[in-house]
Amino acid sequence: MTNRQPWLDPMRRRLILDPIVNDERSVSGTRLGKQPGWIFQHAIGGGQADFDQWIENLSPRDRVMLYALFNQKAHIDELIHAFDKLLVDLEIFQDATVIDIGCGPYTAGLALANVVGSRAVYRYFGIDRALSMCAFAEELAAEVRALGELDERTEISFHQEIDVIDFGRRRGTQVTVFILSYLLASDTIDVDTLVAEIDRASKRVGLGPTVLLYTNSAREEARAAYPKFKKLMVDAGFTEHIEAKETFADSDKLREIHYALYVRRATLTIPIAEFRI
Ligand SMILES: C[S@@+](CC[C@H](N)C(=O)[O-])C[C@H]1O[C@@H](n2cnc3c(N)ncnc32)[C@H](O)[C@@H]1O
Repeated sequence: MTNRQPWLDPMRRRLILDPIVNDERSVSGTRLGKQPGWIFQHAIGGGQADFDQWIENLSPRDRVMLYALFNQKAHIDELIHAFDKLLVDLEIFQDATVIDIGCGPYTAGLALANVVGSRAVYRYFGIDRALSMCAFAEELAAEVRALGELDERTEISFHQEIDVIDFGRRRGTQVTVFILSYLLASDTIDVDTLVAEIDRASKRVGLGPTVLLYTNSAREEARAAYPKFKKLMVDAGFTEHIEAKETFADSDKLREIHYALYVRRATLTIPIAEFRI
C-alpha cells in the first residue's frame, strides 16, 4: 500500500483535476473536449509527446495538465514505493543534490516531498526539455512549499538543459541522487549523451557518492535502451546495485514496472588545483 500523505491527493485534485473538469471544453465525459484514448495516444503520446507544441485546440499547458491527470499519479506511487524500498535510510537526503532528468510536472519531486517532507534539507534540480513541463512543475512545487512540505532551506529549480546548470562550489561528501522516471522510453533520448551528462553533472556537483534511481514500464519496447544504458553506466564507474521487475498494484490497475538502483562511490582523490583553504 503506497503511503500517500494527506496533502497530496487534495493538492493534485485542486491543481490538476478541478481545472480540467471545470474547463468549458470538458463536456459529455470528455477531458478538454477529447476522449481518453485520443488523449493518451495523441496529446500525451504515451508520455513521449513534444509537450511544447499545440495539438488541435490543446495548448502546451493543456497537454501538460492532461499528462499530470492521466500519467502522473501512478508514477508518483511507484516512486514513493521505490524511495521507501530502495532508499531506506532517508538521511541520505540531508544536504543531498537531487537531479531529476525528464522531470515532467515535478513527479519525483512530489514523491520525494511525500516521503521526506521537511525532515531533510536538499537541493532539487528538475530537468525537462519541455518548457511547458517546467512551468507547471514550478507551480506544483510552489504549492508544496506553501503547504509547508519543504524545509524553507530546500531549494527547487527547473531547467531545460543539465549542462548549463550552475551547481555552485563543488561539494564534499554529500550524496547526489539522480532520478530517471519513465525517461528511457523516450525516443528523444540518446543514451550516450544521457550517461555522459549524468557523469559530468555528478562530477560538477562534488566528490560524494552518487545514487541513480531508474523506473520505467517493464514493456519490452519501453526498456529497449536499458542494456546499453547499463553498459555505459558501468563504464562510467557505477555499480548496478538492484535491478528488478515488479507487479505494482497500488495504482488504478496492475502494472509491471522495471526499476534499478545504481551507485558510484565517492571520489577519493581531490584534484589539487581545487583544494582551497
Ligand atoms: C514519460 S515523461 C516522464 C515524466 C516524469 N519523470 C514522470 O515520471 O511523470 C518523459 C519526460 O521526459 C521529457 N524529455 C523527453 N526527452 C528529454 C530529453 N532529451 N531531455 C530532457 N527531458 C526529456 C519529456 O518532455 C517528458 O516530460
